[in-house]
Amino acid sequence: MQVIDTVAAWRKTLDAARGEGRTVGLVPTMGALHAGHASLIERAARECDVVGVTVFVNPLQFGANEDLGAYPRTLDADVELAAANGAALVFAPGVAEMYPRPVLTAVSVPSLASRWEGEGRPGHFDGVATVVTKLFAQAGACRAYFGEKDYQQLSIVRRLALDLDLPVDVVGCPIVREPDGLAMSSRNVYLSADERAVAPTLHRALQAGARAFDAGPDAARAAMTDAVLSTGAFDLQYAAVVDPSTLEPLTRPVPEARLLIAARLGRTRLIDNMGVTR
Ligand code: PAF
Repeated sequence: MQVIDTVAAWRKTLDAARGEGRTVGLVPTMGALHAGHASLIERAARECDVVGVTVFVNPLQFGANEDLGAYPRTLDADVELAAANGAALVFAPGVAEMYPRPVLTAVSVPSLASRWEGEGRPGHFDGVATVVTKLFAQAGACRAYFGEKDYQQLSIVRRLALDLDLPVDVVGCPIVREPDGLAMSSRNVYLSADERAVAPTLHRALQAGARAFDAGPDAARAAMTDAVLSTGAFDLQYAAVVDPSTLEPLTRPVPEARLLIAARLGRTRLIDNMGVTR
């Protein structure tokens, strides 16, 4: 396992791999790696010759009221998990390496970023889109693996790669769940025992929405909302039935949709989603 902390060395290493005819798999992360990340790295290792995991806590995607300083930083454990799942390289630049001067350029995909997660976190997805564009530009031609857990992020990343002609194949990977259905997330550690017990409700709400989807988007939305509110435990932020590509809310029955849900449970904000077909 090689840990690299400069853009120049990272470029050189990936260029050398491609020069030897090897394909590159990229797994962009902010560290604090868990089983969800492990599944992305494993898949990248199955499909690519060399896998690089990037670990960078990106200040651009944190709002003024979000605690960038408190974000878990666990590089040693991250390197171990990356190696154990088939990565050969970790790129862990510092902030000064990634942003050596004030950033005057932003990448933005407003029509995908403004709703849902974007509503309560202004600027968040511009920060994500900008750093992912930099990571793609630094890495060069590769396949890049992202979890479907952050479905809106994945949609934005897919679109920016397409619109900017970046030589990157964006691969969306299925959500990894705990045995009781809770989607794996770095935030789950913040749940108390009581909150952890009720947290899988979000997955059950999506399942209820999927069952109701044949009756139309309104029925699916109502089923999700009822399932969450009936517990009395959550502050529901949204339960939405959206077009899988545009993320626009659906009003008429269609063959295919994405169910999106976000709710606050105590101090922890949880999100989840599911693809549905009629
Ligand atoms: O999903 C994440 O961990 C981050 O948003 C990403 C894509 C690595 C960009 O900082």
